[in-house]
Amino acid sequence: MQFGSLSLKSNLFLSPLAGYTNLPFRLTVREIGGLDLATTDLVNARSLIERNHKALALIETNVADSPLAVQLFGAVPEEMRDAALWLQEQGVNSVDINMGCPVRKVVRVGGGSAMMTEMGRTAKLVRTMVDALNIPVTAKMRLGWDDNNLTAPELARVLEDAGVAAVFVHGRTREQGFSGVVKLDGIARVVEAVKSIPVIGNGDVTTPESARHMIDHTGCHGVSMGRGAFYNPWIFKHTKLYLETGKLPPEPTFQERLQVMRRHLDLMVEVFGESKGCMMFRKVAPWYTKQFGPANKFNKRVVMLKTREEFEEILDEFLEWRVQFLDETGELKPRYQPHNLQPSFMEDQPAVANRERIPVPKGPVEVW
Ligand SMILES: Cc1cc2nc3c(=O)[nH]c(=O)nc-3n(C[C@H](O)[C@H](O)[C@H](O)COP(=O)(O)O)c2cc1C
Repeated sequence: MQFGSLSLKSNLFLSPLAGYTNLPFRLTVREIGGLDLATTDLVNARSLIERNHKALALIETNVADSPLAVQLFGAVPEEMRDAALWLQEQGVNSVDINMGCPVRKVVRVGGGSAMMTEMGRTAKLVRTMVDALNIPVTAKMRLGWDDNNLTAPELARVLEDAGVAAVFVHGRTREQGFSGVVKLDGIARVVEAVKSIPVIGNGDVTTPESARHMIDHTGCHGVSMGRGAFYNPWIFKHTKLYLETGKLPPEPTFQERLQVMRRHLDLMVEVFGESKGCMMFRKVAPWYTKQFGPANKFNKRVVMLKTREEFEEILDEFLEWRVQFLDETGELKPRYQPHNLQPSFMEDQPAVANRERIPVPKGPVEVW
């Protein structure tokens, strides 16, 4: 897969989830495998130019976190250009423009999903960036503002002419938020509209089979996953293998899950320091335990986690308590086994069931 001059080893991408897709999470997923280009949370271009410390924290990275795209939002072409030029100097591999964010403070200034409605202005902004940069510029959009304004195909075509190297399309409208189902037909219209750039489909992909389904039904060149990755950091490795061989690898063992959870915490502590890292891990750990079988003993204590050492105590206590749910071979007795996420074959599923199947992490969810 090529994004302009950037060659990528995987056609699977990590979607930005503000507050979650930080450096420790990206590294955790990268170490498991299957992912190449990952994207930061969205960052305000002007804040980057001003070297605002919060904006700088959002783009924190290291050599293992490569290739990396930074997602920018803003509506002033010169600001977007200058922020991107600085990122290029810092070694960032690609810049993604947020055109899907429906948050009022982003849309009010003409950024995020407002960009889907003003194509001339958006094209000018993109051209200003593309002319100044050597690294690829990509755009992430929804299908349109609402069902009466499904502008994504036209926008993608206009952006391709303006020089974007790829587009990411979340198959919902701004008005939909996270409700309803992803419209694969809408993504297919974008694929048909562009001449040669890759179109990356996004939305509700939580299993290797649903990635395959999205590709087969839309013709998209790659798939980007957000919540599915948070729910299951193995998803990129498993999906890559499945797309290449048609075979589904076995689910990670309990021991592997423990090992990755520990690693994730270690990276949190390394990047954010022990106190902040542990505090931030309070909302992360329960995502791992969804696959542990009964885990209330663990969940109750981990939401008050303060130190790395305490984590091991909590874990030891949990492992002792968990024995009651195991059979003589050390496996969970069948009635305690967690439910796996079922392939979400989008349009075939009632909306409510689909939403239940894919938990939405706490955050500015209704605005995303
Ligand atoms: C908590 C949360 C934060 C998000 N933050 C961003 C963001 O910073 N930039 C962006 O383009 N999309 C953001 N999104 C949208 C996701 O990137 C993605 O398009 C959406 O979740 C659908 O994909 P999924 O079903 O694989 O999660 C966010 C979504 C959620 C739930």
